[in-house]
Amino acid sequence: MPDSAPMTQARPDPSLSLYRLMDPAVLADPYPLYRKLRETDPVHWDPFLHAWVVTGYQDCITVLHKFSADRTPTPEQIKAMGIDALEPIAKVMTKQMLFMDAPTHTRLRKLCSVAFTSGKIEKLRSHIAQIAEKLIDTVAERGSMDLINEFAAPLPAIVTAEMLGVPTEDHELLKDWSQDFAEMLGNFQHNPDRASKVLKSVEAMTAYFRDAIRQQERLPREGLINSLMSTEVDGARLTEEEIIANTIVTMVGGQETTTNLIGNGMLTLLRNPAALAQLRDDPSIIETAVEELLRFESPSQHTARLAPEDTELGGKKIKKREAVMAVMAAGNRDPLRFEDPDKLDLLRKDNRHLAFGWAAHFCFGAPLARMEGQIAFNALLRRLPDIALGHQPLVWRENLGLRGLKAMPVSFRTAS
Ligand code: HEM
Repeated sequence: MPDSAPMTQARPDPSLSLYRLMDPAVLADPYPLYRKLRETDPVHWDPFLHAWVVTGYQDCITVLHKFSADRTPTPEQIKAMGIDALEPIAKVMTKQMLFMDAPTHTRLRKLCSVAFTSGKIEKLRSHIAQIAEKLIDTVAERGSMDLINEFAAPLPAIVTAEMLGVPTEDHELLKDWSQDFAEMLGNFQHNPDRASKVLKSVEAMTAYFRDAIRQQERLPREGLINSLMSTEVDGARLTEEEIIANTIVTMVGGQETTTNLIGNGMLTLLRNPAALAQLRDDPSIIETAVEELLRFESPSQHTARLAPEDTELGGKKIKKREAVMAVMAAGNRDPLRFEDPDKLDLLRKDNRHLAFGWAAHFCFGAPLARMEGQIAFNALLRRLPDIALGHQPLVWRENLGLRGLKAMPVSFRTAS
């Protein structure tokens, strides 16, 4: 008979809780925890988190494919919970495609996809390369830099500004807002200390994008905002609130994760000098290399869903509306799916990883993220061939879902 949630866990085992990610040592290397979960209890009721934690590749796919993404409390529920102050955040999140199921999700995603075609993304390619070169120019003579704050963060922030069609000088604003909002997306629990900062950011970016819409009504500017304003599918258009909410989710989705792809990827290469030399000597392997870096150190480690009905997964009974965390980063190291999963293999074939999710919510910006990653790694290795990790200890962001470093000092000899 399948186990169901809390009853069978008379004595909860804290060693299996995802809360252990709050321990800096576990956060620095979460893979032993994920392995233990996958091997001992792949569909695990985490009583501390009050959610099921799913760590096997196939089970993650089932969750991403079949379970409900409609998980944000409505403004009414927020009120009922006594956290009214967060209502403006909930208002925005409930209109974002990431937190919706079909058919609402299908309509919104279709409208947004029309505004974000592969042709429009391809147009950004030469800009991205120029931005990467310029950022490296700025530090090249210095012989050292903080790779996160001087390269991996500004690159996607500037690209995001271009992609949205807002002034690139505003990229620091976009980065700061995005970091605040990502707090909400990446962490398990409402943190009252940080909530007011997130709230201020949501209010500021809502006003900023409303203003951008007003300006573009008078003077259209190429980019996603303008496309969202004019796109029509089957006679349907987006409302202003939908445009703002989905501009915000695209802006956040486009920055934190891409910064972390570049940061985590470079860290992985620097820790694996043979792989770094392989990519530096043969940049043509960049496509498989980026896929492997996404699998190996996934920027988006897990995501949440709700059970759509009473169901069974991995022999466990999950009740309707119980929360389920799909730990994609654990699925990406599942030996039942990937041969020698803890080995970095930049030429890995058959690498259908979960780093961009799966099914209906599969990352909307994956082609852009891949392009940014490919350009960034090749530019860094070509311009700074002897790049080396600094000696300072590495500190990971306290964002448990969106994995990335706070800073990453590196040194290099100036390329001739
Ligand atoms: C390496 C970089 C990136 C990673 C690892 C990543 C990861 C993901 C993942 C895992 C999801 C699915 C979440 C879920 O199912 O709950 C997702 C969705 C999404 N991503 Fe990305 N992302 C990246 C870059 C981007 C970029 C560059 C953009 C924007 C241009 C973007 C925009 C979005 C949006 C709008 C969604 C929601 C899609 C939907 O709900 O239908 N992402 N991303």
